[in-house]
Amino acid sequence: MGRHRRDLPLLALLLLLLLLLLFLCLAASAQTLQSDVLAMQALKNRLTLPSSLDWSNADPCNWPQVMCTGNRVVRIQIGMRGVSGTLPPDISKLTALTRFEVMDSQFSGPLPSFAGLAQLQVLFLNRNNFTFIPADFFTGMSSLQAVDLSYNDFAAWGIPVSLKDCTSLQNFTATQANVIGQIPDFINAKNFPKLFAFQLAFNNLEGGLPASLAGLTIQILWLNGKAGNSKLNGTIDVITSLTQLAQVWLHSNQFTGPIPDVSNLKNLWDFSLRDNQLTGVVPESLAKLPNLKRLDISYNNLSGKVPTFRSDVNIIKEGNPNLGKDIASPASPTLSTIARGVAAPLTSHRKLSCIAKLMMTMSMNKVVNFPSEYFPYDNIQERP
Ligand SMILES: *[C@@H]1O[C@H](CO)[C@@H](O)[C@H](O)[C@H]1NC(C)=O
Ligand SMILES: *[C@@H]1O[C@H](CO)[C@@H](O)[C@H](O)[C@H]1NC(C)=O
Ligand SMILES: *[C@@H]1O[C@H](CO)[C@@H](O)[C@H](O)[C@H]1NC(C)=O
Ligand SMILES: *[C@@H]1O[C@H](CO)[C@@H](O)[C@H](O)[C@H]1NC(C)=O
Repeated sequence: MGRHRRDLPLLALLLLLLLLLLFLCLAASAQTLQSDVLAMQALKNRLTLPSSLDWSNADPCNWPQVMCTGNRVVRIQIGMRGVSGTLPPDISKLTALTRFEVMDSQFSGPLPSFAGLAQLQVLFLNRNNFTFIPADFFTGMSSLQAVDLSYNDFAAWGIPVSLKDCTSLQNFTATQANVIGQIPDFINAKNFPKLFAFQLAFNNLEGGLPASLAGLTIQILWLNGKAGNSKLNGTIDVITSLTQLAQVWLHSNQFTGPIPDVSNLKNLWDFSLRDNQLTGVVPESLAKLPNLKRLDISYNNLSGKVPTFRSDVNIIKEGNPNLGKDIASPASPTLSTIARGVAAPLTSHRKLSCIAKLMMTMSMNKVVNFPSEYFPYDNIQERP
């Protein structure tokens, strides 16, 4: 009995302590983390906000278009509201940030590094006047799923190695963003197992499509260049192993060689190869694609008969002087002579079209005087 009575005050004390702890916890979570408050103040000081965005409250978690979870800022979504200004380096201190959206605004000046924002999932910086992107920009962004940098007049930049850290990346979009250099080898299925869209249209990329792209799960591939000023070259063979491809824009480049066998690209519906230097025939495999809706092969140097496509496929094929011509009645007298002499004894259609293709290429090479790098069959050149 006496023992029980002595325990009572202790119990009350414990209860009181617990309550105090609970209160402290609540107070802490209501109090926005001071470093986030400071970073948000630094951001606000750089911006000109429209009257619809009243950021005057002392606590940024009460600002419109800013969202907090617990005591941390997790979303800043101020795109398409006429905001102008620059971004302070303090952004990289908002380490709980999951979404940062300032698209379609009048932001200018250099982008600060976003390195270390390991929670960031969505980053929309498109359609602004940002002038520079630092090479370490993507360092540590292991949660990044979608980034859009399109339509900014950046100083020329190459795809930075720091992008390798973005192993969750689904959509990498940087159309008309002054990206230069080659598509790096590290853009591969191992580093980017979830890649869905790789959109780099209207840039100044050069070199070939690296073999390392093979096996990527991308569905959208935009590598079309600026008319008259683009340099991607080599063959397009690697696309045959990108089996999820649905939309492929490779137009306005300097790709050479034949259109490969695309039998594996069952989802392909939009395929644009316009304005390249592709040679050879239009493969049967293209005509057999079950989902193809649009095919633009115009302004290349394709030749031979065009296979029969379903009637709902929109094909644009002008600007291929030797396309559609029957191999039995070829384009030039030179070709006619060679083709008749060599092709006549052959019966197999495959052999015939192959020889015709070679002859066509060679005769065009002679007649039109191609620069030698356009000529894909070096060893054959000596033969006739
Ligand atoms: C952004 O660039 C456009 C086009 O160059 C220009 O008209 C506009 O004034 C710029 N805006 C800012 C805020 O720098
Ligand atoms: C990636 O892009 C696709 C197609 O535009 C879109 O449906 C998807 O939601 C995007 N993914 C992310 C994480 O934004
Ligand atoms: C592709 O262009 C580069 C220059 O950007 C050149 O060095 C290379 O030889 C070209 N490759 C092919 C296959 O034409
Ligand atoms: C393609 O062929 C046309 C004529 O058939 C020629 O004028 C043109 O230079 C060729 N283009 C290339 C890049 O080989």
